[in-house]
Amino acid sequence: MLDVVYPLIRPLLFSLDAEQAHATTLRALAAAPRLAGRVAALTMGPPPSELARDAFGVRLAGPVGLAAGLDKDAIALPFWPSLGFGFVEVGTVTAHPQPGNPRPRLFRLPRDRALINRMGFNNHGSAALASLLRSLRARDRWPEVPVGVNVGKSKVTPLAEAHSDYATSVRRLQGLADYFAVNVSSPNTPGLRELQERAHLERVLDAVMEAAAGTPVLLKLAPDLEEDALREAVSLAAEVGVKGIIAANTTLCRDRLARDPEQAGGLSGAPLWPLARQCITTVLQEAAGRLSVVGVGGIENPAQVRELLEAGCAAVQVYTGLIFRGPGLPAQVNRDLSRDPRPPSPVRHD
Ligand SMILES: Cc1cc2nc3c(=O)[nH]c(=O)nc-3n(C[C@H](O)[C@H](O)[C@H](O)COP(=O)(O)O)c2cc1C
Repeated sequence: MLDVVYPLIRPLLFSLDAEQAHATTLRALAAAPRLAGRVAALTMGPPPSELARDAFGVRLAGPVGLAAGLDKDAIALPFWPSLGFGFVEVGTVTAHPQPGNPRPRLFRLPRDRALINRMGFNNHGSAALASLLRSLRARDRWPEVPVGVNVGKSKVTPLAEAHSDYATSVRRLQGLADYFAVNVSSPNTPGLRELQERAHLERVLDAVMEAAAGTPVLLKLAPDLEEDALREAVSLAAEVGVKGIIAANTTLCRDRLARDPEQAGGLSGAPLWPLARQCITTVLQEAAGRLSVVGVGGIENPAQVRELLEAGCAAVQVYTGLIFRGPGLPAQVNRDLSRDPRPPSPVRHD
């Protein structure tokens, strides 16, 4: 049903400023999660049980996850599984609540089916997220799919103290998340991507692993890293016991745009796919079965998901595809995969 309705409401949403449309939709979903969930579940529903899988030490209900950034503060968390997501990642959250960059900071590129954002980790902070997650559990509103929390560095925290900023958030959220994703790859916090370099990264990952106390930790990388740097980050992650790599975040590259709006920020959506695909190939090679790989970047149809799973990804995530193709995308992928299940890839993902 949403597949039919979304093309009708999309022009209305697209007539609003991009961030306003996003905030309005999230608020509506947060206000009536049960009703919205029931309506969505009528046609979307949870992934069929044969699509469940073990990845990075977690039992996922299906291969398609909600990517970080869409519901940073988890305000509509109970709703997302009804669209067919097999896992949901909330955040990025930081140790200090922060407003993010000045608006406008989110731009649609309809011709390219792409977004540019420079949100700058606007979020209510990890303490607020921890109390919201606790209250969802207490009220029995916890989703039936795994929930990951993506953590980043607060803007006010100097790079040299980044590790303690990440660890503070993880400690507050320990026991409330099925996994943690360490985000060192958003382009909108000055200096953040430097944390992908070995010395910084080792310090951040060690601190997070200790604070996570056994909860699986994943690392999210940028598609703009040079191949050597990418390999080094993956290899370090495997050495210190990280369970998975999320590849990739948004890009600073503008080469594939029909028309460059010349806005600073990270590009996501269709033009990111070739770059993300290349990055995923390198990550899969370097991981060599030691780590699970979650493919993300420009996914907008079932064929791309199938390609990534067959290449050895344990799961995928989507964000921009939901905006341009519609919220029916995860269910469409689930239907496609369960119609024609091919043998699982030989790579072990647990
Ligand atoms: C508006 C917006 C905000 C985002 N915020 C975050 C974030 O807070 N943390 C993060 O790790 N990734 C964030 N991302 C990146 C997405 O999780 C994803 O890696 C990227 O958009 C590529 O996937 P896509 O082409 O399916 O959108 C954001 C993306 C968009 C479009």
